[in-house]
Amino acid sequence: MDTQDWKIFLIPYSQAIEELKVKFKAIRKEFAILDEYSPIEFITGRVKKVSSILEKAERKNIPLDQVDKKMEDIAGIRIMCQFAEDIYKVIDIIRARSGKDLYIVEERDYITNLKPSGYRSYHIIIKYPVQTAMGERLIFVEIQIRTLAMNFWATIEHSLRYKYRQNMPAEIQDRLNKAAEAAFQLDGEMSEIRDEVLKAQEIIQEKSAKDID
Ligand code: GTP
Ligand code: MG
Repeated sequence: MDTQDWKIFLIPYSQAIEELKVKFKAIRKEFAILDEYSPIEFITGRVKKVSSILEKAERKNIPLDQVDKKMEDIAGIRIMCQFAEDIYKVIDIIRARSGKDLYIVEERDYITNLKPSGYRSYHIIIKYPVQTAMGERLIFVEIQIRTLAMNFWATIEHSLRYKYRQNMPAEIQDRLNKAAEAAFQLDGEMSEIRDEVLKAQEIIQEKSAKDID
């Protein structure tokens, strides 16, 4: 495949990313209009670079004419949440849409089962129908759902992994594992603070309701 072939191949993938970003941003807007707290903080999306597709195909022994069927993350969406609980609300929203405008193929829970690296996130692999000039294409999209703390950790770890490739020094890996644990504790603390705030708000609401009576 030459550069032009790759450009054509990637058209439905970038279309899917644009559409899904609009759809998830719409959910955020809806909560804003309702004056309700949104479980979605922000969304990013990307199409894998051709060089990364080639590298992964080689690493995973995927023939190039089968990348569309075997590589699930050519299109990727990332949904960031403020609190760990929000992740499960987002998962429910996506599950409720399966069979409608998307189809869940697989869920990977790297929150309960964190990776040896320390990585935490919830992944949902979907099939997403894209309407192209050539008709409908059903493509894989990988949705990663994580808290801001999980995202902070993954971003730093990713750049270090890129820097060291296969040779991450044991001491750095050790620090990364500790940092992952600290991020996990932070998410826990924030959730508890949030519960306290919500409880306090309920008490205030009950009190003001009584005042009116
Ligand atoms: P690759 O890791 O991309 O080869 O795919 P895979 O088929 O092994 O799937 P997996 O679910 O392990 O990872 C998919 C994606 O999750 C990756 O492309 C990353 O974006 C993210 N990810 C997985 N593990 C890690 C990790 O240890 N650190 C970071 N920063 N990201 C990770
Ligand atoms: Mg992997």
